[in-house]
Amino acid sequence: MKTLYQKSCLKLSDFTYEEIFYLMKLSKFLKKNKHNKKEKKYIKGKNIALIFEKQSTRTRCAFEVAAYDQGAHTTYIGPNDTHIGYKESIEDSAKVLGTMYDGIQYRGYNDTILENLKKYSKIPIWNGLTDKFHPTQILADLFTIIETFPEKPLKKIHCAYVGDAQNNIANSLIEAANIINFKLNIVSPESYWPKKNFLNKKYSLYNKRKNIIYTDKIIEGVKNVDLIYTDVWVSLGESDDMWKKRIEELYPYQVNKKMLNISNNPNIKILHCLPALHNKKSLIGLQLHNKFKFNNGLEITDDIFNSNINLSFRQSENRLHTIKALLVSCLSEEKIF
Ligand code: CP
Ligand code: NVA
Repeated sequence: MKTLYQKSCLKLSDFTYEEIFYLMKLSKFLKKNKHNKKEKKYIKGKNIALIFEKQSTRTRCAFEVAAYDQGAHTTYIGPNDTHIGYKESIEDSAKVLGTMYDGIQYRGYNDTILENLKKYSKIPIWNGLTDKFHPTQILADLFTIIETFPEKPLKKIHCAYVGDAQNNIANSLIEAANIINFKLNIVSPESYWPKKNFLNKKYSLYNKRKNIIYTDKIIEGVKNVDLIYTDVWVSLGESDDMWKKRIEELYPYQVNKKMLNISNNPNIKILHCLPALHNKKSLIGLQLHNKFKFNNGLEITDDIFNSNINLSFRQSENRLHTIKALLVSCLSEEKIF
């Protein structure tokens, strides 16, 4: 297979099935080399701009550490640090960055900004989360699933996504299920089912293979699945005023003991991209627990979050290895496999 040299990743469907599996193989190779302290630097001297218009822990750290491990340099550009979009258009800023950098990670609101960064900078652009998509998260999730189920090909996996199914994680997961053909149940009230037309024209919400189903019934959605994936009920950039309505409508879809019993799978695993509101130990967690009289988590209960069926910290670590694979394959001409 060709390398992904000079490719951008605005959404997961920018990659083919073969390219995603190439990234999985490269992630495994790079993870092993890092753990064995035998990492070769494939992108020495490259410069990467990291534009963040929203907060981040995992994505920012994974891009920075991946770049440093591989001999590249990063510049962090926070929401209030530059003229981008305020005093200078995206077009002009992209032209400037394109003369100095080899690639740009962008986290923000609108996908049009990604398109314009790509068009005017003429260097690879990677989406580190927008309102619509979070492709680098899903790469880490797919890698985590492969590691967790070594005997089961990814195509044979059956995953349920419960909660807010109109957000970036649900959209990117639906893209993944379209490309890879694993079974995906979207489980939420009908008003939270994904909006039409966000997918690449090649794919659809209701594809012919029928590997993706949408249901508001927990029993239909989680029975006999291998994994249950959940995410916060109010995403970055959404108003805090949304919490009341979201809690009222999504509380029945909380990942808790009852839902696990309904799954009827004693080996079930849980995915969460994090951050998770599972206890009162964060400021927002404390405020929401107190305001809405919760005592054991919002989208996931604290007991389930802290149990060994929760893969979320492995997903977090794998952000590093999969983002590193993305950087290496897009910025290095060397053919590793
Ligand atoms: N999962 C994820 O993208 O985390 P951050 O918001 O911390 O980057
Ligand atoms: N849907 C969440 C994902 C966080 C990684 C958000 O956009 O805030």
